[in-house]
Amino acid sequence: PQTISSTSTLSAQTAMDTLANAKQTPVLGYGNGLLGPTIRAQKGQNVNLNFTNKLSEHTNIHWHGLVIPATMDGHPDHMIMPNNSFNFQFPITQQAGTNWYHPHLHGLTGKQVTEGLAGMFIVESPEEKALNLPSGAYEIPLIIQDKRINTNGTIQYNPTMAEVMSGYMGETILVNGTNSPFLEVVSRFYRFRVLNGSTARIYNLVLSNGADFYVIGSDGGMLPQSESMKSLLLSPGERADVLVDFSGAKVGEMIYLENKQFSGMGDAQGVQGYKIMSFNVTNAEKDNFALPTALLPFTKLSGATKTRPFKLTMSMGNSREGMHQINGKVFDSDRIDEIVNLGSTEIWEFDNTDGDEAHPMHVHGVHFQILSRTGGRNTILPQESGWKDTVLVAPKEKVLVILKFEHKGKFVVHCHNLEHEDDGMMLNFEVI
Ligand code: C2O
Ligand code: CU
Ligand code: CU
Repeated sequence: PQTISSTSTLSAQTAMDTLANAKQTPVLGYGNGLLGPTIRAQKGQNVNLNFTNKLSEHTNIHWHGLVIPATMDGHPDHMIMPNNSFNFQFPITQQAGTNWYHPHLHGLTGKQVTEGLAGMFIVESPEEKALNLPSGAYEIPLIIQDKRINTNGTIQYNPTMAEVMSGYMGETILVNGTNSPFLEVVSRFYRFRVLNGSTARIYNLVLSNGADFYVIGSDGGMLPQSESMKSLLLSPGERADVLVDFSGAKVGEMIYLENKQFSGMGDAQGVQGYKIMSFNVTNAEKDNFALPTALLPFTKLSGATKTRPFKLTMSMGNSREGMHQINGKVFDSDRIDEIVNLGSTEIWEFDNTDGDEAHPMHVHGVHFQILSRTGGRNTILPQESGWKDTVLVAPKEKVLVILKFEHKGKFVVHCHNLEHEDDGMMLNFEVI
């Protein structure tokens, strides 16, 4: 995707794009095709983006992963009507990392994201720059999304009741809006910023040559040190910032990014053994890059004064809406569900012990750290050790996270399976 600065203009619009079957079809985007530009901002900078809604329906933008004032966060209350503009202005105070943006309307998020509205928002900082990580042509965002594409080439999005339960899964997996993509690489280190931008599908990524992913960052920024992983489990909304070393690869070699079989996640799992994209090694090149032993400092949060339970439940009603609940409640925009004190530190407990579906739980307005995962997988993955904003709570699991609230106002906590979210698996909390 094209890159723009954070003091620019952006619009949601219909566009034409080719997804499959070589047919030009209408999509939504923040530009001339599916998806939107990658926005880059510096820590300490003020973002000033003038956004125009050129669609025939209302939309808004949520800056997923940016810790910013509530009035700029894209709460479902905040709608931007067709032909209206909104000036997003907020300071970037957080560390360098890989964030993203997408619409956040109650009931329409899954549809608008699937039709193409999403993009990456990268925060950079001098501290990160000093690490001399692969950059420029060697630093690539990868937005992975599955879609159901009709034979006429159009995107289909019409979840049935059963698909609201399991999540809506597509048979075509696009990377950066491209079907069966390849990237020509040279034999050196690359940095990939991987985002699972799918509505429901969970991926377990591996490289076909058995190479490692060196995970350097998670949702909220850099890890204290890199962690080498053979596979990378990513649920909807989560990001992983990884380095891959192609220096041992031969010219002409093709290395695939694949989805490896996994279990225990209900229905929201991968297309097994599916090749997501290929890296075609075109040239031998030497780089002197050495993996830094330490990345950026990381301070553990402590001193929580309250534990707040969030019980994830389901009710098999005959209504199409409200099957997924948190603490027995379905989202109501006008109801404040939890009140939190500004500056306080709390432990939030996401409890899926009775559930049989996977719920990637996401909190707005704050980053958190994972304290424990009991039941189910019973472990915290290495890539989950840093700052997070979305955590996968698989069936039978209870996950405890610690968070410190630094912005006043009304925010949401919700499941990032977008069918679940649109079904009402979301609560309001207000920081006062
Ligand atoms: Cu990425 Cu509330 O969402
Ligand atoms: Cu978010
Ligand atoms: Cu869910």
